[in-house]
Amino acid sequence: MAKISVLFVCLGNICRSPTAHAVFQSMVDKQGLADQIFVDSCGTGDWHIGRAPDPRSQEHALARGYQMDNLRARLVDDSDFDKFDYILVMDKQNLADVQSMNCQGYTGKLGLFLDFCRNPNYTDFLEVPDPYYGGDQGFSLVLDLIEDASTELLRQIKERL
Ligand code: 4NP
Repeated sequence: MAKISVLFVCLGNICRSPTAHAVFQSMVDKQGLADQIFVDSCGTGDWHIGRAPDPRSQEHALARGYQMDNLRARLVDDSDFDKFDYILVMDKQNLADVQSMNCQGYTGKLGLFLDFCRNPNYTDFLEVPDPYYGGDQGFSLVLDLIEDASTELLRQIKERL
């Protein structure tokens, strides 16, 4: 059976989407589902292609047990519409950028990742705030939001397996 595939998208692919990649992959691994679910991430901007995640993202993720130093930034590509069942973006600008690509005929789920948030504390968040120009709190919030949305995303995907 083909794997269910999930692509996380942000702007630079060095802060938010690699964090989502690492957190969701960790949940998939812990539940023994790595042979059934494929996870990847990418960016809509090309500045950081080939680079490892931002050291601040890595540090905050590692403090919660998520390893992400193996990830490398890449650019979103039209071929991703053929490869992924879910394309989940971090903010509305990411969504507009992906929708401006060759996505006609895409039959998967393209949308905001935080639509999957279920914690009432986070219902005001439609977007994962970009932590790049901010301080520690921003990186911690990114992890809080992503952990919550990942839990529900995995619950929904498991219903399809
Ligand atoms: P990300 O954060 O989209 O969460 O990876 C950013 C990283 C880099 C830049 C902007 C946002 N930048 O302008 O270089």
